[in-house]
Amino acid sequence: MSIKPDAAVYGGPRARDPPPPPAGGGGASPPAIPHRPRVTLRTLRAKHAAGERITMVTAYDYPSATHVDAAGVDVLLVGDSAAMVVHGHDTTLLLTLDAALLHCQAVSRGARTPLLVGDLPFGSYEASPTDAVRSAVRLLKEGGMDAVKLEGGGRARVAAAAAVVGAGVAVMGHVGLMPQAISVLGGFRPQGQSAASALKVVREARALQDAGCFALVLECVPSPLAAAVTASLSIPTIGIGAGPHTSGQVLVYHDLLGMMAHPHYRQVTPKFCKSYAGVGAAIQEALGRYAGEVRSGAFPGPAHTPYRLDAPTAEALARELRAGGEGKAADAVEAVVAEQGLRAAGAGPG
Ligand code: KIV
Repeated sequence: MSIKPDAAVYGGPRARDPPPPPAGGGGASPPAIPHRPRVTLRTLRAKHAAGERITMVTAYDYPSATHVDAAGVDVLLVGDSAAMVVHGHDTTLLLTLDAALLHCQAVSRGARTPLLVGDLPFGSYEASPTDAVRSAVRLLKEGGMDAVKLEGGGRARVAAAAAVVGAGVAVMGHVGLMPQAISVLGGFRPQGQSAASALKVVREARALQDAGCFALVLECVPSPLAAAVTASLSIPTIGIGAGPHTSGQVLVYHDLLGMMAHPHYRQVTPKFCKSYAGVGAAIQEALGRYAGEVRSGAFPGPAHTPYRLDAPTAEALARELRAGGEGKAADAVEAVVAEQGLRAAGAGPG
């Protein structure tokens, strides 16, 4: 179980168990992951107080979680963006709580040190604060999360946030563009571009802070508004498409890694995303090379054919096959053993 109290009496939170070492087979071994203490709300408060910027990235499965962990990122968000970047939907609305829980469970097995925040999916918390508490508790108990995130700063959402915090679950708020509200916002549009709408964002942010949120995501708002919200709150703000004047930044894993090579995806990747790698292109190239080598017979070569039969066993097998009327199969055994023998003697094709 990954949930540890914010400040434990007996020694404090410890890092989760390390993931097992990767199985052998190909590629350079990853660098050893240094041991770091787990990030808790206290860690974030201390960083914020010291003026250190907070780092946050999304992840949705075990391997992405191990990478985020190894990079020393502070907060890992199991975002409902999974609906889009993992499941291929056009919006975040279709992610179910059960699907979110599967993502959370995989992530919590792979990440040892970041604070794990699970997004409450659309439909899992809006109807009542009771629903919000029930869903939030599931993300912690079944998903292994440390905290939850919910979108919106209207009255009902603030009440939901207060109820969840009251139930003992740390809540990260989310204002500005709220992808779960595209139905009422009229699409994925930047928010706070008029004085009235900007003031609404400031008021919602304050209300969420008053409800007990420990941090706030500010999505797709003009930079001066992000600066104003950050200045008016005592909790950290985490920006995405909100400029540099926030307490930290978050990006979606697939966006920052340049994971999606498909031209359509490149067209719809938000303007504020920066790609730090071209992982999608590397994946595409590797898959193409693999398929080419399978077609040509170059893979698997001797280096990737580890299981052998010693000569007496191979002879016995061929004999038995022949006795059973399987002459072609016996010939195949003998041919491969002969070829391997030639190769071992340095005379055959490498
Ligand atoms: O689901 C998500 O990825 C998010 C981030 C954009 C903050 O909510």
